[in-house]
Amino acid sequence: MSGGACGPQVVVTRRLPAPVEEALRARFPDVRLNADDAAFTPEQLAQALQEADVVVTTVTDRWTPAVLGASGVRARLLANVGVGVNHIDLAAARAAGITVTNTPDVLTEDTADIAIALVLMTLRRLGEGERLLRAGIWTGLRPTFHLGRTLRGKVLGIVGYGRIGRATARIAAAGFGMRVVWHAPRDPRVDDPATAGPPDAERMPTLEALLRASDVVSLHCPATPETRHLVNAATLAQMKPGAVLVNTARGDVVDEAALVAALQAGALAGAGLDVYEFEPRVTPALLAMEQVVLLPHLGSATVETRSAMGMRAVANLDAFLDGRPCPDAV
Ligand code: DGY
Repeated sequence: MSGGACGPQVVVTRRLPAPVEEALRARFPDVRLNADDAAFTPEQLAQALQEADVVVTTVTDRWTPAVLGASGVRARLLANVGVGVNHIDLAAARAAGITVTNTPDVLTEDTADIAIALVLMTLRRLGEGERLLRAGIWTGLRPTFHLGRTLRGKVLGIVGYGRIGRATARIAAAGFGMRVVWHAPRDPRVDDPATAGPPDAERMPTLEALLRASDVVSLHCPATPETRHLVNAATLAQMKPGAVLVNTARGDVVDEAALVAALQAGALAGAGLDVYEFEPRVTPALLAMEQVVLLPHLGSATVETRSAMGMRAVANLDAFLDGRPCPDAV
């Protein structure tokens, strides 16, 4: 397939790894890439919808009903580079006749790795340790210096048992000897051991039961109106004293003000966060807390995975423009 003056018009809202941009250029010589990589404003998003047949988008673009409902929409496909689509109002996209696709599977393991990294960093107090070494405070090993907690035998509670939740559970159980419990509205009933959770993972009947049982709670549910502030003052109070919260899902699953209060009160021993309620802004109180590990939304951020995500978006785009079903229509 190729673009050209009369071919499909494609707009890409952020820089993508070089192989992905090359693949797009090869197909669509007129593709509009975002050379300076600045996030599109709502006006620029609306303009992209008017000018392009396909918009290749990502999580920093806010596809609100106002943007999607503007007049003169030409676009028929929003190919999202990312699995989460909470930044796209799907009902408004449907009403505008726009198909939405995402990029599942290819980012599962890397995102699970980051969840595990946050479990390690919080329980073993690694960020804090590195900061004090860099500050010149370390004077050598002392048997009582900077003790964390072991992962082995601890209970990891997985909230949301989709692909990434199950991958995190597998690594935690097989690699670190953690005991896994999980809670999700539905049992995913996966037969393939390569993508299933650990065989002895225990389903908890309620979120409260999971929170009361877990030493570490790791969030893996999608951001929906139902999961907004799922972690709030009331549910934080159900967590074990001294437990740790890890979030690699979406920021607004957590009421950050309530999380700050729980950490300040010492009810939680720490938190490991890769996503934020007001992303990219981080609640200032979190920045000041040594027991909190803060990453800049790195879940899928590897050369390999970001390229695979981009190529998966290209595969969706190819299918759409060829009139075939999109492999990852949402
Ligand atoms: C995802 O795939 O949703 C990641 O958070 C990156 O956007």
